[in-house]
Amino acid sequence: MERNVLCKKSEIPLGESKVFQVRRLSVVVVRKENEQFYAVRNFCPHQGAELGKGVLRGAARANDVKDVCYEKPGSFLYCPWHHWSFDVENGCSMHDPENTKIKTYDVKVENDEVVLYA
Ligand code: FES
Repeated sequence: MERNVLCKKSEIPLGESKVFQVRRLSVVVVRKENEQFYAVRNFCPHQGAELGKGVLRGAARANDVKDVCYEKPGSFLYCPWHHWSFDVENGCSMHDPENTKIKTYDVKVENDEVVLYA
């Protein structure tokens, strides 16, 4: 695995994400509100949309049509095309976690820099 310095920590605001090109990889780096950083491949396994163009939210849980709540806010990246959602912590799809995953990468903050190991 190679060490890749992506940016300063402050260049990714809390609760937001940013796309980086690392050699031939396109990677979405997420900075959650709790200061944890995660990195996933910028590619939806459904039909190939760029997940970095999607939104970060919680996991939607519905008790009925009028009662939808979101759990784990900021942990799920929603695809911009058909709204499949993926947990940025482990890459699992919310609806089919055993069979549908996106690639995750090790990302760390070192000396105020965001560093990806891939
Ligand atoms: S391309 Fe992502 S859900 Fe269809």
